[in-house]
Amino acid sequence: MRTVEAYNNWAESYDQVENPTRSLDEKVVRNLLTVLDGIDIIEAGCGTGKNSAWFSQKCRSLKSFDFSNEMLKIAKGKVKNNNTEFINHDVTEPWPFGNNSCDLVSINLILEHIENIDFIFEESYRILRDNGKLFVSELHPLKQKEGSVARFVDIKTEKEIRLVSYYHSKDNFTEAGELAGFSQIEMKDWYDDTNNDIPRLLSILLTK
Ligand SMILES: C[S@@+](CC[C@H](N)C(=O)[O-])C[C@H]1O[C@@H](n2cnc3c(N)ncnc32)[C@H](O)[C@@H]1O
Repeated sequence: MRTVEAYNNWAESYDQVENPTRSLDEKVVRNLLTVLDGIDIIEAGCGTGKNSAWFSQKCRSLKSFDFSNEMLKIAKGKVKNNNTEFINHDVTEPWPFGNNSCDLVSINLILEHIENIDFIFEESYRILRDNGKLFVSELHPLKQKEGSVARFVDIKTEKEIRLVSYYHSKDNFTEAGELAGFSQIEMKDWYDDTNNDIPRLLSILLTK
């Protein structure tokens, strides 16, 4: 099943079923991205808007995009602030934003679906102002090595759907960041409360 169809099917149950990766990402964003007053944010692959809701309360403007209409519909229901715009767009196509037009790009739990991450880092660099930050939070490469992938039970067919996913190592992320031109690249491993063996998430903060 194509990724866009999978997310259109998953949308209805996405927020209802417990998902430790999503919950940890929510904590990480609220822990690391706190000073957002007066800034312009672009969020790629916003899904059902759990982070859009956080950003929109704090920033000057937010543009959140995703290619799943069904995920976007739910996100729109969560965020009513008039500083926020939701856009249907595929991250693998040139982004519909001007050069040097934002202060923060946030990309959460989407790069496992993207084969060519270089393009994503290049587009982020292009639209960021000087000193702007790209924040990436992703299922940890060690979790991926363990066989973990985004998956859900389709509520219509009751079958488990495993989404198409691509492995990216820490080195791949660093290379993509450097190739795009980012100067400072900080990575951090994040663990579940109950499991300290293998990190669940990798966060990356890059500075233009
Ligand atoms: C696991 S969800 C994460 C959503 C949100 N960022 C969060 O942290 O809750 C991944 C999202 O990426 C979107 N996505 C995957 N591939 C995409 C692409 N090529 N272009 C735009 N969105 C994409 C999906 O539609 C889905 O909403």
